[in-house]
Amino acid sequence: MDNSGTLDSLAQELRVFRPLPQLVIEANVNPQELEAFRRQAAHDPLGYWEEAADELDWYKKWDRVLDDSDAPFCRWFPGARCNIVYNCLDRHIETANKNKLALIWEGEPGDSRKYTYYELYREVNRFAGALRTLGVKKGECVIIYMPPLPEAVIAMLACARIGAPHSLVFAGFSARALRQRIKDVEAKLVVTADGFYRNGQIIKLKPVVDEALVGGSADCVDSVVVVHRAKVDTDMQEGRDYWYDDVVRRERPESPAEVMDANDTLFLLHTSGATGAPKVVSHCHGGYMVGVHRTLTHVFDIKPTDIFWCTADLGWITGHSAVVYGPLLAGTTTLIYEGHPNYPQADRMWHIVSKYGVTIFYTAPTLIRMLMRFGPQYPRMHDLSTLRLLGTVGEPIGPETWLWFYRHIGRGECPLLDTWWQTETGMFMISPLPISLLKPGSVTKPLPGVEVDVVDREGASVPPGKGGLLVITRPWPAMMTGVFDPSAKAGGAGRERFAESFARFPGKYLAGDVAKRDEDGFLWIEGRADDVLNIAGHRLGTAELENAFRAHPAVAEAAIIGVPDKIKGEAAKAFIILNQGVAPSDELILELQNHMRKELGPVAVIKGVEFRDSLPRTRSGKILRRVLKAQETGESPGDLSMLEDAD
Ligand code: WTA
Repeated sequence: MDNSGTLDSLAQELRVFRPLPQLVIEANVNPQELEAFRRQAAHDPLGYWEEAADELDWYKKWDRVLDDSDAPFCRWFPGARCNIVYNCLDRHIETANKNKLALIWEGEPGDSRKYTYYELYREVNRFAGALRTLGVKKGECVIIYMPPLPEAVIAMLACARIGAPHSLVFAGFSARALRQRIKDVEAKLVVTADGFYRNGQIIKLKPVVDEALVGGSADCVDSVVVVHRAKVDTDMQEGRDYWYDDVVRRERPESPAEVMDANDTLFLLHTSGATGAPKVVSHCHGGYMVGVHRTLTHVFDIKPTDIFWCTADLGWITGHSAVVYGPLLAGTTTLIYEGHPNYPQADRMWHIVSKYGVTIFYTAPTLIRMLMRFGPQYPRMHDLSTLRLLGTVGEPIGPETWLWFYRHIGRGECPLLDTWWQTETGMFMISPLPISLLKPGSVTKPLPGVEVDVVDREGASVPPGKGGLLVITRPWPAMMTGVFDPSAKAGGAGRERFAESFARFPGKYLAGDVAKRDEDGFLWIEGRADDVLNIAGHRLGTAELENAFRAHPAVAEAAIIGVPDKIKGEAAKAFIILNQGVAPSDELILELQNHMRKELGPVAVIKGVEFRDSLPRTRSGKILRRVLKAQETGESPGDLSMLEDAD
């Protein structure tokens, strides 16, 4: 089955799916209400977001809704005081939610743990107390380098509770990448696990932290807290390393939430940008909480009986907004799974859905494509009748995968909500609601309060049917509050790097995606327009990959392009110029692939390596990746001309 639909084939996708009448009757937001929200938001956007903010608890309300006097730097709800964790936990234990399940965790071997809101509240308080005892202060950063375990969620919330920004690092990243990230954010403390289960094996994690910190190479770190998960032999460094159980045992289950300014940092997250090293994006307590709460409750129509399962790793923005903060703000039950989706066989996801009665299943196209390969007999082995909504995020899903997901997992009855958003947006931006008309492969329309456009290289709106650059034309509450560029800390380049996204078309945020609008105003996302690859839903900058290649002694120059991949959506292909005297060989290709894994971690899969004597360049010396790409795919290199600078 071919999923690599081009923009043209997508635009020919004429099927329209309507929600079942019962669903429309029961929806929290019905079609008339959605229209009313849209009208209100168009007419009075600040009033719209103010009402959304009023649904949450604040220690002190805002002086005004938005201060954009220093645009594009925006401050939402200036003057307000809040703590997102108060809204995720404390607020619920005053209500009937107190004894409701907040978190369900399934380990790969099949073990399971559950926390009610009250239990999670107590655990978070204990760990918040432990962080304070270990000397972590408001404003100091904590790195969380963990597999999906309840303690990872607890650690995130405990950090936020004491006002210490957390920064998650995906447990697949290498020691080198971890060390860089620790240094970038000047972390005081690292939370990790001894190891975890993945595909039937135990992966040791603590040794990676030891390697990252070896010889004081990241000497900002005072302490390491280790969760005992895999029960493997673990070296503990006296005075630096503590077992999680030991540090929480002494703490009381109450530790007050820090009163935060609405614009104080909640978390930092590394993400790949179009240029240079990864950038560090920050989000805040106030605006982020408002945007995530409003959009998640609208899109996923949260009901008291829901069990919400978003399969994303906690280390990505999806893990923040759609696994932890969004579901807990909404008072629903969130589920996390430790292991591999195919362990012990290809029905594991569906087994989990039926075991816990999952009602909302939110995942990435790459996972669906992988499971599709095994055929529909695997979902058929399980009772999936509890599912009522499906969701997807991270990359274009394409009509074929959409239809398979809709039919074989959703029985043709569950709306499939294709949500477009980014690390930088924090919240869902373009997405249907369960009551919306759906076209397979389209992300449909912007949510109320979100305004987007598709523009040509001059910034003028393009007519329906024509591709262009996706821009966001109005500030939104969960927008990133900052970008800081670790490679140029002193020079204030963070401000520049933030402003980069608004520079090309003043006042408009350039998302970096190519999109198209059809005659009905439905949006279709084609993919990235810039030098960012999207491999299995993970963002990787060509610059990061090329730099990592250049760090190998055999490599003189490297250029990376994305090539289509049936499962991962996109894969990286490298064109390499070797240093004088180095002979190309298959062994060298293997060695380079291993080198990349060591540099950046297993996310950096290099599908193909081709040795060249030269690379196509502009007169100013920039590598013309689009020419390489055209040679590779047989498309005309002129296709993406609107994306190139004049030279
Ligand atoms: C892509 C993930 C098509 C897009 C939440 C965007 C999508 C990048 C979709 C952000 C979607 C995200 N359809 N493409 N529904 N959602 N993308 O920061 O290219 O990891 O710019 O955030 O993923 O990736 P990020």
